[in-house]
Amino acid sequence: MAKLNYTYEEIMADHAYAKPHVVMGEKLHGGFDADGKYLSPRMLGRGPAIEAWSQSVADRGGELIDVSVKLLKRENYPNHAQQKFLLNLGLGKTLWDSLSIVGEIEGRGKILSNASGPDFQEIIVEDLSNSAIGHLNKGLHHAHGRDEGGLDGSDIGAHDKMWYVVRDLLFGKNAYPIPNAPENITRPEGMRLFPKLPEQHEAFLLIYMNILMVEVRAEKMFAFCCGLFRDPDLFRDRRAAAEEAAVMVERIRQDEASHVGYLRAVLSEMRLLTFKLSDGTTIRGSDMLDPIWQGMVDFHSTTVYDNSRKLTRESIVRQLMALPDGEALVRQLDALEIPPAAAAAAE
Ligand SMILES: [Fe+2]
Ligand SMILES: [Fe+2]
Repeated sequence: MAKLNYTYEEIMADHAYAKPHVVMGEKLHGGFDADGKYLSPRMLGRGPAIEAWSQSVADRGGELIDVSVKLLKRENYPNHAQQKFLLNLGLGKTLWDSLSIVGEIEGRGKILSNASGPDFQEIIVEDLSNSAIGHLNKGLHHAHGRDEGGLDGSDIGAHDKMWYVVRDLLFGKNAYPIPNAPENITRPEGMRLFPKLPEQHEAFLLIYMNILMVEVRAEKMFAFCCGLFRDPDLFRDRRAAAEEAAVMVERIRQDEASHVGYLRAVLSEMRLLTFKLSDGTTIRGSDMLDPIWQGMVDFHSTTVYDNSRKLTRESIVRQLMALPDGEALVRQLDALEIPPAAAAAAE
């Protein structure tokens, strides 16, 4: 049987890299094996652990929750054709801004790099030693936080720096001003969603669900970025740099697989377990979690896209209206958008 119980050191351990990861003079996390293949950071033990916990869910008759991009109901905005239209007009600001903001939001994940969450064993009946849940405070939080935002005092860049490198490969350094990122990208909660759980446990459950959906949305964005950067009609004066930017995005994407993997394992395990409630009763995890998870999926797959589309479109319209014949350009931009129903049918 596969190993299910790991030490903190095992979860945090790196592969022995044959070559360090350095791009545009920036030292970055992860490294390369002797064949030049990129190895994500802290995956020597964490990789097999996530696989083993996920398999263990199936072995117990459970199923892994769906975390595919099929959950998402909206196209990227601007879409490929619209982004191409803007870039060909010399308007790189929208892409620059979105890459800067992704970098900044990724960097906020650093908050997990030294954080401990509540002990879920306090509110779960079954023993958690052999589960992903039992390892959240045994390396999973710290590894995740360091993947996103690095570690204070370290000169090794993480996803925040990697996105800035992607952006600078495409546009050069300081091509546009650095935009302000939105304060909060998680679902705003006005009331207790798990009123019979301690507040700390509820807060972390919602953090896990939110982050998992942020990671699912990121997956869609990675595919979008690679397609855009590899479009032969774009970045024509810097094709090699644009290809390198796409390769960087693929490395980030490879790193993110562990985040989706452990969070999916945690939530899938929880569905099979028995939670102790404050009124002295118990409830099966799936009965408690499924309706809230569904709300989270709906929010991230529609509302988040709609809100962001509105803000992004306003900024694009301002840029187009500053050009001669701005109104005609706005009409051309809108004509390139596929209505949601047609986009869904085309999939
Ligand atoms: Fe990330
Ligand atoms: Fe991530």
